Amino acid sequence: MPKSKASSRPPKSKPANGKLTEAQIAVHWKEEQYFYPTKEFKAQANLVDPAFVKKFSEKNFPKCFNVYANLLSWDKKWKKTLDTSKPPFWKWFVGGKLNASYNCVDRHLAEHKNKAAFIFVPEPENEPAQVLTYRELYIRVNETAAMLRDFCGLKAGDRVTIHMPMIPELPITMLACARLGVVHSVVFGGFSGEACGLRAADSGSRILIYADGYYRNGKWIDHKGNADVAIETAKKEGQRIDKVLVWRRYPGHTRTESPMVTGRDYIVEEVLRDYRGKIVEPVSLDAEAPLFLMYTSGTTGKPKGCQHRTGGYLAYAAGTSKFYQDLHPSDVYWCMADIGWITGHSYIVYGPLALAATSVLYEGVPQFPDAARPWRIAERLGVNIFHTSPTAIRMLRKAGADEPKKYNYSFKHMTTVGEPIEPEVWRWYYEVVGKNKAAIVDTWWQTETGGFLITTKPALDRMKPGSAGPAALGIFPVIWDENNKEVKAGQHAAGNICIRNPWPGIMQTIWGNPDRFVQQYYAKYCKNPKSKKWQDWPYFAGDGAMLSADGYYRILGRVDDVINVAGHRLGTKEIESACLSVPEIAEAAVVPVVDEIKGRVPEVYISIKPGMTPNKQVIDKVISTIETMIGKIARPKKIHVVPDMPKTRSGKIMRRVLAAISNRMHTGDITTLANPDIVEQIRELVQGRDATPLADGPEDIRLFGEQG
Ligand code: PRX
Repeated sequence: MPKSKASSRPPKSKPANGKLTEAQIAVHWKEEQYFYPTKEFKAQANLVDPAFVKKFSEKNFPKCFNVYANLLSWDKKWKKTLDTSKPPFWKWFVGGKLNASYNCVDRHLAEHKNKAAFIFVPEPENEPAQVLTYRELYIRVNETAAMLRDFCGLKAGDRVTIHMPMIPELPITMLACARLGVVHSVVFGGFSGEACGLRAADSGSRILIYADGYYRNGKWIDHKGNADVAIETAKKEGQRIDKVLVWRRYPGHTRTESPMVTGRDYIVEEVLRDYRGKIVEPVSLDAEAPLFLMYTSGTTGKPKGCQHRTGGYLAYAAGTSKFYQDLHPSDVYWCMADIGWITGHSYIVYGPLALAATSVLYEGVPQFPDAARPWRIAERLGVNIFHTSPTAIRMLRKAGADEPKKYNYSFKHMTTVGEPIEPEVWRWYYEVVGKNKAAIVDTWWQTETGGFLITTKPALDRMKPGSAGPAALGIFPVIWDENNKEVKAGQHAAGNICIRNPWPGIMQTIWGNPDRFVQQYYAKYCKNPKSKKWQDWPYFAGDGAMLSADGYYRILGRVDDVINVAGHRLGTKEIESACLSVPEIAEAAVVPVVDEIKGRVPEVYISIKPGMTPNKQVIDKVISTIETMIGKIARPKKIHVVPDMPKTRSGKIMRRVLAAISNRMHTGDITTLANPDIVEQIRELVQGRDATPLADGPEDIRLFGEQG
């Protein structure tokens, strides 16, 4: 049994004036007992030396990050670690040159050519796993790069949109792009064709890369048809798509009902015949050359393309994989995320491959055909590092709490990422999945940040269920309230978490929209817009957090109009604009609702235009429009048709009041509303006449909507 220690429970304190601002909520929070890494884990860990940690103190910033950059092979060494001359457009490892594909593939050939780079596990359990060695990966990345260069005419700086499922050809394509300096933009396979088309247009891609289909939850998904929709959508946005390259899930035959358009759609396998064995020299790129775009939801309807740089990003992905994921080349590492999200980019592809690790790629859903599938995969492949989200953990626990015990796998390390994890769920993860011995890291970060920002150092720090932990090496966070006042450790109040300093993994800008980049992340707490000192430009993350007396951060969730569904970000405005495209809808408001498995799910409030009838057809139309414009992931839990929305006197919809109703919480002060009477009407409609609000709701629901 691990050593553990129970701490005292903090007093429930309230600000002296008794009035709570939304960012200073007194959080009713029980301190959890600590857990400690085992001797066995410490004996083999990459980060065990407290002296190494000291190198990352603030006085050694930014040079401390040279340690991360030194994990890579550079064609030309950088001259300056950090250039702050144009805040907040930082430059990292200035003057350095490198290639990400070379770093993830070529340089491992001498020592590891026969080692598995990826092990692909198809969802159908009767299909055997496929091993892709570093040598085979090298050949396939080169052939694909030759095709992208010579058949598609792509060169460094061009953008390509990749809308693919979890098959080995996805990372092969990404690495082939990286070899040429082509900027890839991977769109999550579960997003709709329309969502893909919008992103392709925004990035100015003229080539789309698809797969014919894939297995998900026991069903064959015909994916290629989405390309046709994407092309139409991109065209409406003024972007012409010249070619669609379609990978086959099963070599030798194409499985799609969607017709191949002559002169536009090409089966990759057929095109590749002309590029057999071709070797493409990796293009030596500036450290600041963009490596990829990753679109994510924000406070406006349009997703934004987070642009990540080559040198800083790769250094940060490699460094954090080494020290927090504790990856060694001998490990078998399985991150169950999808490569279509940032977690997959940093911690399935770039970080692990930069360290010559073996990364497992699973096609399907964790609970197919049953909730023991992950444990069978882990046992069979000898997985010893496991990485997943609280949503997956909750689901596996609910569907098969005792299943892990039946399988003979052994994890040394596990990660949880993407949403806050409840202490109870954390303990099941530790005790049952991790068999009371795996070190757990709860890593807090974002699409924008490239890699982990808050996490324990697995061999050095104690673990506290529900708290991500202290800051990562070289990261200096601070929590501020709405009045720029610091919320200090042990104050038992929440505020906005910010990072005081730049770090190599931070995005470069929002693709095509540098002003939005400044506005969204830096304007709020910038001390002096004219300053060229990084100290004056803290990064505003958009999350509520609190800091415990022991220096551990507990992340509460988004403070803006973003809903974190199963660890995936959805913008309320995106869903609302989908609703508003249905002709019958006058107004729409989307709010997050607590869900036992997914953490949060969207619930939709709509009002119907005068003269139109609110019937089931309209509701079905709203659902199908959301699914076509965004994807099934955004499907609302419920749709409420209301006579009117609660509004401020200036006409702004009070989503916070609706969120309170949906979550059965107190609606708070509504006397300042233009139409306070509507609140009771909506409450009755949603909850029924006699419902009573719950005493305590989730903190982030209370934070939600404060800025909007
Ligand atoms: O609210 C935080 C939550 O996920 C958001 C970032 O989402 P995304 O950009 O899609 O990246 C997800 C994977 C990094 C954050 O603003 N979040 C992420 N990790 C955690 C978390 N919330 C609590 N605990 C975490 N460990």
